[in-house]
Amino acid sequence: MSTNEKELRVGMVGYAFMGAAHSQAWRTVNRVFDLPVRARMALICGRDESKVADAAGRLGWEGHTTDWRELIARDDIDIVDVCTPGDSHAEITIAALEAGKHVLCEKPLANTVEEARAMVAAAAKAQTVGVRAMCGFNYRRVPAVSLMRELVASGRLGVIRHVRAVYLQDWITDPQFPLVWRLQKDKAGSGALGDIGAHIIDLTQFVTGQRITGVSAITETFVKERPLPAESSGLAASADGAGAAMGQVTVDDAAVFVARLDGGGLATYEATRFATGRRNALRVEINGSLGSVAFDLERLNELEFYDASEPGAEQGFRRILVTEGDHPYMAAWWPPGHIIGYEHSFTHELRDFLAAIATGSDPTPSFTDALQVQLVLDAVARSAGLGSSWTEVEPVPAPVTA
Ligand SMILES: NC(=O)c1ccc[n+]([C@@H]2O[C@H](COP(=O)([O-])OP(=O)(O)OC[C@H]3O[C@@H](n4cnc5c(N)ncnc54)[C@H](O)[C@@H]3O)[C@@H](O)[C@H]2O)c1
Repeated sequence: MSTNEKELRVGMVGYAFMGAAHSQAWRTVNRVFDLPVRARMALICGRDESKVADAAGRLGWEGHTTDWRELIARDDIDIVDVCTPGDSHAEITIAALEAGKHVLCEKPLANTVEEARAMVAAAAKAQTVGVRAMCGFNYRRVPAVSLMRELVASGRLGVIRHVRAVYLQDWITDPQFPLVWRLQKDKAGSGALGDIGAHIIDLTQFVTGQRITGVSAITETFVKERPLPAESSGLAASADGAGAAMGQVTVDDAAVFVARLDGGGLATYEATRFATGRRNALRVEINGSLGSVAFDLERLNELEFYDASEPGAEQGFRRILVTEGDHPYMAAWWPPGHIIGYEHSFTHELRDFLAAIATGSDPTPSFTDALQVQLVLDAVARSAGLGSSWTEVEPVPAPVTA
């Protein structure tokens, strides 16, 4: 490492699932990528003193606090990494930006369009003094997904006709699974739609470079009441036991919608937590006039590519193993054929975030990009509420600068 490297001190809020994933990336990013800035894992925040102290030691943070306001008030924190549920994204993020901290905020950006707009305005104002903001749609940073985008952008697929995207999970198929925060609208904003549907909305728009302009949707809540949890946590939780009090599920369990893209293509999306046997199956296929490409997160080092310009007798989907040094991000890792995993997407996310801060450029996905995803989520929810009626997605306004 160069001795001229500037050090950026990071404060992270939330220490559970994403907190651990981001910590792993903060520990790794400067050891794998050669960057002009060095991140220092200064402070971690959670509400429970003993748990956050334990997390600090376990995940590699120098200090801990139980109050995110204290984290933001500290002069020596340069970056705030928001890994809390959606109900606190807007408040923490806006306060951090106003205090001059760069912000990485987990997806979905907010629980409502209104909150997302306020975050975009705060980011635009902060940008005028060189403060950067980015939303954590990490799947963009899977090398095979980035390669997909490059194939589309270079014209190898021709005109995009179809986008087919599913994100399937099954962690709440048991009706006795407790009412964790992800099943409560006031904490999560929406259910499968905002949690995993947001990922495939962002991913497909990123890969195709096209925006969803309108949708027709259905959503369903299959299990309407669940036992209250002993402790509300993320994807793993236990109920209070037999006879536990019940609470209302206030979000969708599944969301299915069709969409039009601004390039003329048709798209279908399915996001569900009731796909029995599918733990975390994110799959996308794109069909163009000159070829097709398909991605499956369970085989994330691979891409299926069909090139319609090849001689007829040789045509067929071929597998690209995305581990070559000239594939996105891969030069920093292992020799060709030595595969990487889920956690690397977060390391790549931080690489791009730190590189943007260092070069004084705006990282992507920007808060405006994330607001656009929020507008699609909102259109889907409204369409489903109106008997699947066709609902236009409001265009993203130019960022508001104060
Ligand atoms: N990028 C991805 O692939 C991905 C995956 C999972 C979750 N997420 C997103 O990450 C965010 C967090 O999800 P998670 O799965 O890590 O949840 P989680 O329940 O595992 O962890 C949430 C953490 O936030 C803390 N927290 C909650 N409110 C707080 C507050 N007011 N002050 C301080 N700490 C607070 C909790 O104590 C906990 O440590 C959500 O926005 C979620 O949508 C993204």
